[in-house]
Amino acid sequence: LSNRLRAALQSPDGAGLSAVADATARDARDRFDALAAIYALHRAPLVQIGDAVWFQHHPAISELKARLEADWIAELDALPVPHDNADVSTSLKSLAARDRLPDLYRWVADEATWDEVREFLALEGGPDADFDDLVATCQIGIDGVPKVEMARNYWDEIGNGEPTEVHTTLYRRMAAAVGIRAVPADQQPLSALTRGLLGGLLSTNRSLQPEMIGALGLIELQAGPRCRLVLQAFDRCGAPQDAYPFYRVHAEVDPRHGMDWVANVVEPICDAHPDWGQRILRGAAWRAGTNAEFFRDVSELLIDRRRAA
Ligand SMILES: [Fe+2]
Ligand SMILES: [Fe+2]
Repeated sequence: LSNRLRAALQSPDGAGLSAVADATARDARDRFDALAAIYALHRAPLVQIGDAVWFQHHPAISELKARLEADWIAELDALPVPHDNADVSTSLKSLAARDRLPDLYRWVADEATWDEVREFLALEGGPDADFDDLVATCQIGIDGVPKVEMARNYWDEIGNGEPTEVHTTLYRRMAAAVGIRAVPADQQPLSALTRGLLGGLLSTNRSLQPEMIGALGLIELQAGPRCRLVLQAFDRCGAPQDAYPFYRVHAEVDPRHGMDWVANVVEPICDAHPDWGQRILRGAAWRAGTNAEFFRDVSELLIDRRRAA
């Protein structure tokens, strides 16, 4: 499916697009590879996708996208959701606390060799890859205090207006210093891809705005302590100075971002729309579930490999 889709997107007249509308994916990887190509039409820099962008809303693309996403959402909903009768913000915070410091991060902090740290960081992709665009999309149609909080978060994300402090710039600086090379999609665990694509699902469906608010909140609530463990790994391994700023800024500001997101986005929105509460938790559970699968797979890859060696 994904190869046929990519070929059709490259043809000038979109020949072959209609044929993929009802094609089935060979397996999960094929499905997510097809979704990656579709999300790129919505979110990737124009210079990367070229003329294929004209097919963003082609009926065949819309049909295929909706079908593939319906299957994926059914799987995401099969992940356990927290049901602890508390209010939404308490439930969200306790979900975030549950797996805030995965064993994998502790291993990175305490035991991984420098090469293993680099391998881990290449797969992790930073605590908040493309978060700036996600927040920008998430605030569409929101107003009042939540809008202001999202704007404040976005402003932090883009370095408070200081070009050298923009988080994606800091990430590139870190990646260059550490010598991280992008791992081709077909060499990543499937869960690393789905974790990255969750932002595509959430940000290309207005209907999932409550879920997106929950997922972004969970990212903020969990990132700080994880980044501190990466910094410990840097200290232990003697990482170059340019590796530090990206993880340092997230270790410092994300705990505040998380609490502010709960207080200024989740709570006022739930006051205004009580029916959004369960859906905010649903989105947070989606993110927690995709994280858990990713951590399990990367642990198998790195820690089990070490034990076997
Ligand atoms: Fe960030
Ligand atoms: Fe943040």
